[in-house]
Amino acid sequence: MNLSATLQSYQQRIEVVLERILPAEALLPERLHRAMRYSMLNGGKRMRPLLVYATGEALGVSLDCLDIPAAALECIHVYSLIHDDLPAMDDDTLRRGKPTCHCAFDEATAILAGDALQALAFHLLAASPELTTEPARRLQMIMQLSRAAGSQGMVGGQMLDLQAVGHILSEPELENMHIHKTGALIRASVLLGAYCAPAISPEQLERLDHYAKCLGLAFQVQDDILDVESETQVLGKTRGADAAANKPTYPSIIGMKAAKEKLQMLHQEALSALQDLALPTQELREIADFTVKRIF
Ligand code: IPE
Ligand code: IPE
Ligand code: MG
Ligand code: MG
Ligand code: MG
Repeated sequence: MNLSATLQSYQQRIEVVLERILPAEALLPERLHRAMRYSMLNGGKRMRPLLVYATGEALGVSLDCLDIPAAALECIHVYSLIHDDLPAMDDDTLRRGKPTCHCAFDEATAILAGDALQALAFHLLAASPELTTEPARRLQMIMQLSRAAGSQGMVGGQMLDLQAVGHILSEPELENMHIHKTGALIRASVLLGAYCAPAISPEQLERLDHYAKCLGLAFQVQDDILDVESETQVLGKTRGADAAANKPTYPSIIGMKAAKEKLQMLHQEALSALQDLALPTQELREIADFTVKRIF
């Protein structure tokens, strides 16, 4: 599925922003900054920045105001990927078609690069002059992102994931794990985009939040499916890694057919959440379509 010109322009835009906000390689400690740039500037799909831009633009926010929240989300996401790939976690060697950070550098550098990216995300939200929203909104963004990244969000989900290795989870337990490890940051992407809008009604926020919750779960269901059905070459990560590591996933717990039905149901529910919003949500709909049709 080819992305529309608008989504492609968001992707191009975030590349420029990330290049700008990352510390230069020449800055000490060079090795750390090289590792941060290696993992950040290497061709991810940039789903979370796309969501920040698409949500913000639907609410009439200018792209200039959305760059910093978009970059902050990608920093947290990439930090989560670097740590997720470590030997102590998923022990993966391939990410975005290249050696994982700890393989290209070493474990200690990968841990520190992740740590520094997490700190950078919050520094961006707290201190960037280009983020022109009022201080109360900045604080709201920091609160939302810290919750989504922490023990009640992504990191909590990663803990559940590691504890689940080799166990058969019930479907609600699996859903809970996915909502946390992947859903939380996707939800935060939409909410941070929305917080940039000067005015948003509680009903609009509620609908966008529901869209984001469905999308976040759908995103990880499709990630699980692709681990079985895609190709290492296309995926940019090793196909079959979940089965090899004994991870409970949607296909392994409820079967491939039911996993695909679940994905379609979540897709429809995400689209219906947007339906009654009197807003231009074409890009948000396209992101939902891409989430379920993507092959990497
Ligand atoms: C992979 O995320 C890890 C999950 C949370 C499922 P993405 O599929 O968004 O990875 P990139 O950023 O495009 O590499
Ligand atoms: C990733 O889940 C969730 C986070 C990185 C927070 P996975 O372990 O399934 O992601 P991939 O498949 O390695 O990208
Ligand atoms: Mg993992
Ligand atoms: Mg992994
Ligand atoms: Mg996966």
